[in-house]
Amino acid sequence: MDKNLDEIKYELKKYGQEHLLNHYDNLDENKKKELIHQLSNIDFELINSLYANTKKEANNEKDKIEPIEFLDKYKLNEEYKNYEAIGKKAIKEGKLAAVTMAGGQGTRLGHNGPKGTYDIGLDSHKSLFELLADGIKEEAKKYDVIIPWFIMTSRENNEETIKFFEKNKFFGYQKDKNLFFFMQGQLPMVDTEGKILINEDGLVKEAADGHGGIYEALVKNGMVAKMEELGVEWVFIGGVDNCLVKMVDPVLMGIAIDKKVSVAGKSLVKANPHEKVGVFCKKNGKPYVIEYSEITDEMAEATDENGELLYGESHILCNLFSLDAIKRMGANPLPYHSAYKKAKYIDRDGNLVVPDSPNAYKFEAFLFDAFGAVDDLAVLRVRREEEFAPVKNADSAGVDCPSTARKLYEDFYKLK
Ligand code: UTP
Repeated sequence: MDKNLDEIKYELKKYGQEHLLNHYDNLDENKKKELIHQLSNIDFELINSLYANTKKEANNEKDKIEPIEFLDKYKLNEEYKNYEAIGKKAIKEGKLAAVTMAGGQGTRLGHNGPKGTYDIGLDSHKSLFELLADGIKEEAKKYDVIIPWFIMTSRENNEETIKFFEKNKFFGYQKDKNLFFFMQGQLPMVDTEGKILINEDGLVKEAADGHGGIYEALVKNGMVAKMEELGVEWVFIGGVDNCLVKMVDPVLMGIAIDKKVSVAGKSLVKANPHEKVGVFCKKNGKPYVIEYSEITDEMAEATDENGELLYGESHILCNLFSLDAIKRMGANPLPYHSAYKKAKYIDRDGNLVVPDSPNAYKFEAFLFDAFGAVDDLAVLRVRREEEFAPVKNADSAGVDCPSTARKLYEDFYKLK
């Protein structure tokens, strides 16, 4: 239940955030209610500690980092067929669902609208959502099933995303039968003094809580219950911005089932030892993804007896989870990381400020921080040209951008 205005005033004073009510009297009744609702639900203690963390240096020195074993999809020999058969059987039995994370802001791409609606410039002019829909439907046909598809949005893009699907007749899917939308959580953004920002609409400026918000969002929004109802046991979770994502992969699924692990993640071998990507490893004996900035040059260059990089399996946000693992991960809060971003806001005098350099902190959880919740995780190395065509940046960046993704997509499907 929402708090009353006096309770809120007391709390805001306690945490030095009284300015959030500065423009309250000018809001219409609906907005007033919305603001009260937001303020009733903010964990100010958490925001304070997240802000304090932005001033601290991360210290991972005491952690024990070790390489993690991996399998190479194309060096499995006889085992390939075995895993594939196990995976195919489970897919045919309807045990797989797919989740696409589409709640991000896509700031680097700079597209005006949800990232999934972006047209990468193929002759067909299909959007990222349609390319993903094509991929999942094409695979499902092979097994004579419909793979239930779950789309995670954020408050910022939920309405527009659903409208886009509606306009495209849900790409042949049926909403609320085999296609489901759910929203991730969000957290307030704060300025460099730790003050929460006010948005253009007079409400608290909030931003999506990162792709790590996926587990809690799946549980809280009843998606896990829905999956159980549908007989789903395994869930592939991927991003919206990889137009070659392979959401239905019997080999990955067969490995997870055969090896009795609760998470199986796909990796790509690093393009070079110093490529700026996170890699799979073990931290204090548990699966982990370590950022390039957290490992020394020596670790980045270290190889095994076959000349393979010890920390060379990059994480590409293509992971398969058992439903139990998702429940477990959804029950435990993840740490938040801060990102320093540009954010428009209303200042104390009621003026809109549009910054041209970063001015505020956004707090995000990372999906892979939950990997430590399981004892074992299988890593499957796949081929870049078959499974990874990311759309992160605008074309001017020249890498991981629409033109590079288009080329990879066209080469894979031999479109040109
Ligand atoms: P990125 O970390 O690349 O973020 O997300 P982004 O929002 O797409 O782009 P930038 O950093 O603002 O430029 C990887 C995947 O995780 C999803 C994104 O939609 C993308 O599919 N994601 C990210 C969420 O669903 N929610 C979030 O809060 C963050």
